[in-house]
Amino acid sequence: MMAVLDYAKTNFSGGLVDVDVPLNEIDVSKPYLFQEDSVGEIFRRLRREDPIHYCAESNYGPYWSVTKFDDIMKVDTNHRVFSSEAKLGGISIADMHAGESALELEMFIAMDPPKHDAQRKAVTPAVAPSNLTLLEPIIRERAGAILDALPIGEDIDWVRNVSVELTTMTLATLFDFPWEDRAKLTRWSDVTTAIPGAGIVDTFEQRREELIECAMYFKRIWDERVATPGGNDLISMMAGSPATQEMPFMEFLGNLLLLIVGGNDTTRNSISGGVLALNRHPDEYDKLRKNPALIQSMVPEIIRWQTPLTHMRRTALEDIELGGKNIRKGDKVVMWYLSGNRDDSVIDRPDDLVIDRANPRHHLSFGYGIHRCMGNRLAELQLKIIWEEIAKRFEFVEVVGEPERLLSNLVRGITRLPVRLHAKA
Ligand code: HEM
Repeated sequence: MMAVLDYAKTNFSGGLVDVDVPLNEIDVSKPYLFQEDSVGEIFRRLRREDPIHYCAESNYGPYWSVTKFDDIMKVDTNHRVFSSEAKLGGISIADMHAGESALELEMFIAMDPPKHDAQRKAVTPAVAPSNLTLLEPIIRERAGAILDALPIGEDIDWVRNVSVELTTMTLATLFDFPWEDRAKLTRWSDVTTAIPGAGIVDTFEQRREELIECAMYFKRIWDERVATPGGNDLISMMAGSPATQEMPFMEFLGNLLLLIVGGNDTTRNSISGGVLALNRHPDEYDKLRKNPALIQSMVPEIIRWQTPLTHMRRTALEDIELGGKNIRKGDKVVMWYLSGNRDDSVIDRPDDLVIDRANPRHHLSFGYGIHRCMGNRLAELQLKIIWEEIAKRFEFVEVVGEPERLLSNLVRGITRLPVRLHAKA
């Protein structure tokens, strides 16, 4: 069967993708494949026929795709060979510092040790278990208020009304950000991941200007926190640590954006993805209704099923063999978490949401190794709370239209999800 996808849908040139084309013509990097949610078939073929796949030509230059769970683990846990450094390209398939439009940001997710370790350590207390215990009642109260304000029986957009609201509120709390301005955090998060010309921002220049405005806003907060030290928020932590006190401007902005996007987009898309997943698996929704205690194991399963970041990328620092392929020093290596999370040699029925799996945290969505998501427990906490509060109030969050998805090969985003709420009897 020929399954030619309409390439004219994006601004990106570079040939048609067809699941039946010769292997060496496969290029999974095209953003529309993710927007259409059609990339899964291509990953399935790669896992079967060529799990470590070389693409010689793409809009991002040549790159390796690592598509199986165990191979991804090998790359992610070997930071001595597989570098995250921004100057070598960083952590996404698009090189961080390449091209005229590049912002040349520095952030600790795109650093190797020892600098990475020191900067990560500076902000980790914000998501330590003791802080999460303090955050839990605040998040719960807000989640309840958001849900109580929703109309029953009318069509609403779950993304804007719930997912965005809750995650932005949590982020504002982590930064101790001026409450009335918190919508700015959502905007900066969306602007950071947007492809200029495809919706949110029109040009690279506009994006640059908005992000510099973000840095200037945070600079004022930074100065206030320096004057009144000892706060428990992310900015006070960075201002108070020798590892982050003296950051150059682009490193300051870079780390801010890392914390904004890291804490926002991913969790938002998991909240939306969960509603979608349960609607696509009605038997699982029934299980949940009968036994809300399953929320505990459902939360990591939703994060696996959604896989909010499709990939992380590394650059090889030396020649190395992986799965019988010879990767050369300087090569770009893309770990497709979205594919690894659908690998049936490791996960049973990987395409299905199964809310009572025995080992649900065994997934790749948070990565592995020294860069493993710093906020993973906070993300899970937010999802747990929202589902517990949903279970108290609603019999069914019914999806009543097709989801709209983000045009991006990195963020697996749901931009709109029409739902209708059915109250509990
Ligand atoms: C790193 C995913 C929520 C902060 C990462 C990485 C992934 C990821 C894939 C890179 C892992 C690697 O390279 O091995 C997710 C997902 C989330 C989520 C799927 C939600 C479901 C959060 C939250 C925060 C956060 C709520 C809030 C603080 C970070 C930071 C890093 C990171 C700071 C960089 C860690 C480092 O380089 O050492 N995340 N994340 N993330 N995440 Fe998350």
